Amino acid sequence: PSLSAILNAFDFESVARRTMKPEGWAYYSSGADDELTLQENHAAFHRIWLRPRVLVNVRTVDTSTTMLGTRSSLPLYISATALGKLGHREGEVVLTRAAGTRQIVQMMPTLASCSLDEMVAARATGQTQWFQLYVNSDRKITERLVRHAESKGVKGLFITVDAPQLGRREKDMRTKFVDDAPDVQRDGKESINRNEGAARAISSFIDPGLCWDDIEWFKSITKMPIVLKGIQRGEDAVLAAKAGVAGIVVSNHGGRQLDTARSGIEILEEVMTYLKEAGLTDRLEVYVDGGFRRGTDIFKALALGAKGVGLGRPFLYAMSTYGQPGVERLIDLLRDELEMVMRLMGTPSIKDISKDMAVVKNLSSH
Ligand code: FNR
Repeated sequence: PSLSAILNAFDFESVARRTMKPEGWAYYSSGADDELTLQENHAAFHRIWLRPRVLVNVRTVDTSTTMLGTRSSLPLYISATALGKLGHREGEVVLTRAAGTRQIVQMMPTLASCSLDEMVAARATGQTQWFQLYVNSDRKITERLVRHAESKGVKGLFITVDAPQLGRREKDMRTKFVDDAPDVQRDGKESINRNEGAARAISSFIDPGLCWDDIEWFKSITKMPIVLKGIQRGEDAVLAAKAGVAGIVVSNHGGRQLDTARSGIEILEEVMTYLKEAGLTDRLEVYVDGGFRRGTDIFKALALGAKGVGLGRPFLYAMSTYGQPGVERLIDLLRDELEMVMRLMGTPSIKDISKDMAVVKNLSSH
């Protein structure tokens, strides 16, 4: 279909399912094991209902905000997803360019198909980029990556903490990774086992020994704000705040790691409650990802206290099907949806969005 016939994030997914190469579709779409968490990520939004205010002047609605100290036209960002060239021959720079024209933030992955320098070179003036880090068992390599990112003007370091071992994504494993185009960073790892699927084949360098004690070291090697990506319970959010990081991303890695882990939006509610009880809400910014597809999804996360929302697969599907114009249209559609929801909710700006606007009593899965 023509791009103008694409009306929402789900439409990109259905075109991608029909048109992508099987390896790319399998790698992007898969979740761990029985994919229960993958489904739950979006399904959980169906358990939250909204309480609109009326008779508020919403002639103009402003979706802009700040995240880690930089402006963004929307309270959402492109989350890090590996192996962009499985979906588009140019890879992640396509996302960089679209993020640039639309003034949103891109989180660049350690396991990108393009080099960090290529993604930096594709950046527009004033455009913000963050870097997602997989921590190598060889900390020298990690230190080099971090310092290099900082020297290239990257504005945030997102350390992935939910992947001491890669989850089993069986759809991906069944396609048997063929390593041609993707040119990923392979420092310090052994030869690739082609029978384990793309994910496991490229990630054997990740250090399962990473722990809380390492946070001080990260703070000593960089001035970038440090954000822990993959927090999944209130207690860990409190530990993160006490460790002095700038932020956390509440995330289950798009349902690709621990199956039957709870949805991002459900964990967010718990995390905000714990931080509030500990008096730590102002100490760090809380982000969330997993299953965000609609303006209402984004609004609900903001109501629960998130500073911003990450999306992974929707951007991959838009890139893989229509390239840069597809990614730009996805951002435009999400902006239109969020603006409409804000208008209908009686919230002319992001700061007007509050917790009483979302009914969460049925959110909890237990
Ligand atoms: C990811 N994600 C991810 N996260 C990360 O920290 N490092 C990585 O290399 C990757 N790679 C990756 C590849 C693919 C194909 C997907 C779909 C996801 C997780 C990603 O950053 C984010 O947490 C989820 O994608 C959010 O869920 P949705 O929006 O895909 O439902």
